[in-house]
Amino acid sequence: MSKLDLTGQINGLTFNQLFLNASGVHCQSTEELDDLLNDPYMGGIVTKSATLAKRDGNPAPRYYELQNGSINSMGLPNYGFDYYIKYVLSDHAKPTILSVAGLSAADDVKLLHQIQDSDYDGLTELNLSCPNVIGKPQMAYDVDGTRALLDEIFAFYKKPLGVKLPPYFDLVHFDQIAAVLNKYPLTHVNTINSVGNGLWVDVASESVVIKPKGGFGGLGGKMVLPTALANVRALRQRLNASIKIIGTGGVQTGADVFAHILCGAELVSVGTQLQSEGLGVYKRLTTELERIMTDKGYQSLSDFRGNLKTI
Ligand code: DHB
Repeated sequence: MSKLDLTGQINGLTFNQLFLNASGVHCQSTEELDDLLNDPYMGGIVTKSATLAKRDGNPAPRYYELQNGSINSMGLPNYGFDYYIKYVLSDHAKPTILSVAGLSAADDVKLLHQIQDSDYDGLTELNLSCPNVIGKPQMAYDVDGTRALLDEIFAFYKKPLGVKLPPYFDLVHFDQIAAVLNKYPLTHVNTINSVGNGLWVDVASESVVIKPKGGFGGLGGKMVLPTALANVRALRQRLNASIKIIGTGGVQTGADVFAHILCGAELVSVGTQLQSEGLGVYKRLTTELERIMTDKGYQSLSDFRGNLKTI
């Protein structure tokens, strides 16, 4: 394996490789999570976002592969908080990130109380950005609501906590959310979640392609790469250096990974491409990234992380 340094750190915890799965893909069952942990090209794993209670999610078809990405409205199918905390509490050779998603701010607080009261001291990621629960908006688009929620959480929560954000599209919105996030001892921000509520039309059948919400769903994959890079870059320029960034979105090639790191990502996660290509994706991406680094004379991600040039 690699002689290059592909490590990253969050909250002083070292990830020996930079790759994670994007939450939601291949991480619902313990078998799937074990598959990820056993992949030598993965640095760590993220669980499917856990809700307080088990959920079946939305009716199928709820994930559809497009020519340059994917659209999904899974609706948070998961085995419930107890299942995932039990998994991350057992000994693993790599860092784990426990992703949690309340169906309301009150649920978020309950979930974090349970973690605070547990023996789990690893990383947790609060998902403020699920676009697919019918009737529930994405919390992190409500900047004041996010501040109120984080105020309530950090009044009692003393363990490592990051947040998963939706994509933002306006520079003022980056200023606003970063100003809020910088007030808390967050370990990391994971950006981006899927681009919410896209719609795909199949012209032959004159129909939408997924069933929930009349066909509206979160977009991922290649088509979201520029949005993901913009969010990694804009947040890296605004967040405290202690808040690391997990770059998620649109990664298909080693060059895409390189671009995420140049924008300031500490680690990179892969969702749509993992779904379509399977577990071999991490070996391929590692090989492609190492080739680029070697050609450029870089030995470590820290040689170029965040060093994007402007014109
Ligand atoms: C789901 C989708 C998301 O983008 C997310 O953050 C959490 C859950 C889902 O539909 O299951």
